Amino acid sequence: MRGRKKRDSWGSRLGVIMAVAGSAIGLGNFLRFPAKAASNGGGAFMIPYFVSLFLLGIPLMWIEWTLGRYGGGFEHGTAPGIFHSIWQKNRFIKYFGIIGIFGPLVIFIYYTYIEAWILAYSFFALTGKYKGIIDQAGMQSFLRGFHGLEHNRYFQGIGTAYFFFLITFILNIVIIYYGIRGGIEKVCKWALSVFFIFGFIILIRVITLGAPDPLKPDWNILNGFGFMWNPDLSALKSAKVWLEAAGQIFFTLSVGIGVILTYASYLSKGDDIVLSGLTAASANELSEVILGGSIIIPAAFVFFGPVDIQNIAASGVFNLGFVTTPLILNKLPLSSVLGFMWFFLLFLAGITSSVSLAQPAVAFLEDEFDIGRKKAVSIFGIISFILCQPAIFFLGRGVVDELDFWGGTFFLVLFATVEAIIFAWVFGMEKAWDEIHKGADMSVPRVYKFIIKYITPLFLFFILGMWFKQEWIPIIFMKKIAADNRPFIIATRVGLIAILVILAVLVKIAWRRREQAGA
Ligand code: ALA
Repeated sequence: MRGRKKRDSWGSRLGVIMAVAGSAIGLGNFLRFPAKAASNGGGAFMIPYFVSLFLLGIPLMWIEWTLGRYGGGFEHGTAPGIFHSIWQKNRFIKYFGIIGIFGPLVIFIYYTYIEAWILAYSFFALTGKYKGIIDQAGMQSFLRGFHGLEHNRYFQGIGTAYFFFLITFILNIVIIYYGIRGGIEKVCKWALSVFFIFGFIILIRVITLGAPDPLKPDWNILNGFGFMWNPDLSALKSAKVWLEAAGQIFFTLSVGIGVILTYASYLSKGDDIVLSGLTAASANELSEVILGGSIIIPAAFVFFGPVDIQNIAASGVFNLGFVTTPLILNKLPLSSVLGFMWFFLLFLAGITSSVSLAQPAVAFLEDEFDIGRKKAVSIFGIISFILCQPAIFFLGRGVVDELDFWGGTFFLVLFATVEAIIFAWVFGMEKAWDEIHKGADMSVPRVYKFIIKYITPLFLFFILGMWFKQEWIPIIFMKKIAADNRPFIIATRVGLIAILVILAVLVKIAWRRREQAGA
């Protein structure tokens, strides 16, 4: 040890659980989940979803908590150092670890901007800015104007969106600036409490909607739930449905990203992780399946009916969140208050996730370069601010979708595969099992020893293989991208490769410094 600064730590067990739950509960629960479930077989989607939860999500969650706490014992809070601590003989493994900094950084770049839209919409709801709009076309135009993609009577450019981006970005940086205990933990405790209160109020409002139009008694909330949850078992034969369910589990639990590794690295050796991890994951599932699955789609059914809902469910996350939802809210009494509550709860869910996405890069600078937190946060703030700009100004060119594919989908699965192999096969399952149970308040069911060793890695290889077969070729050759947008996509890819190279060089420098210091 080189006279290093003391690492930050969590203030309480509840604090770390709330922070990990806050990282997991996010836009994925309320926008991504209902859209995926409703368009992939309704109730039938829940079969691959729960299979993925038990065979991928829960095991990876325990793997990451364990690896993170273990790495924290060596003063490493990110994957390069954690992987290296476990597999010291392998000179290359630390370079795989850069994915655990790259992934969250890339997601942070676009996630913060979407979070800013949500903050803006909570403000618009309160001030009645979109109140007079009554149809999808009108609300789509409003959204396009807000994004600076068209000039209309609501917006004359991207200025409003940029203003809310600045507020959101600064809020994120301030929270991280105050550190794990003083910033993230405090905010997550407060934010998640408000989030659940607002969430249940809105849930009750939706459940009690009945059939608002007496001329259309079938457009009622029970049928809305039916549309969301009636199983279409034929969907189970589609590989795409399985892949989408597995992808949702990764995104929603924040596994395969690298953030749980970092959060867990601030635990002490004897802190329980089995029950804490399970509690955080359960809080996420409660908010996803119960709240996320019961609000937008059933409410949209009630107001738009059985025909339009099909298109709405398939219209994608942004349309669902920023076109359909404001229209539904407009039709309710007290729409300003409910609209504000809805978007503000989404904002709270979002910000507790985005701060977790920022933390790995900050921890990397702190731990591997021995930089103080404030300086590390300042460096991160400047670099990530610059990186956010293409997502903002080239949104209409598909840059966000591109970032989401690499940062928010592909690298998650790849990273999870590396983690699972290192944990079960390099660290060794016996040692890993002991490590999971250090300080544990409950035992992990023994069947998980088998699942973690064999099933989880095989399932991950299967997903990577299927993706390669079904999606990679068209993606790599940009087959679905309009010719006009291709230069922007190529530039995004070059930028992403540059980030990976820079991270690899930083790892090299950090390790050289460490060797020179004789650590
Ligand atoms: N887990 C976070 C979400 O669901 C990233 O939005």
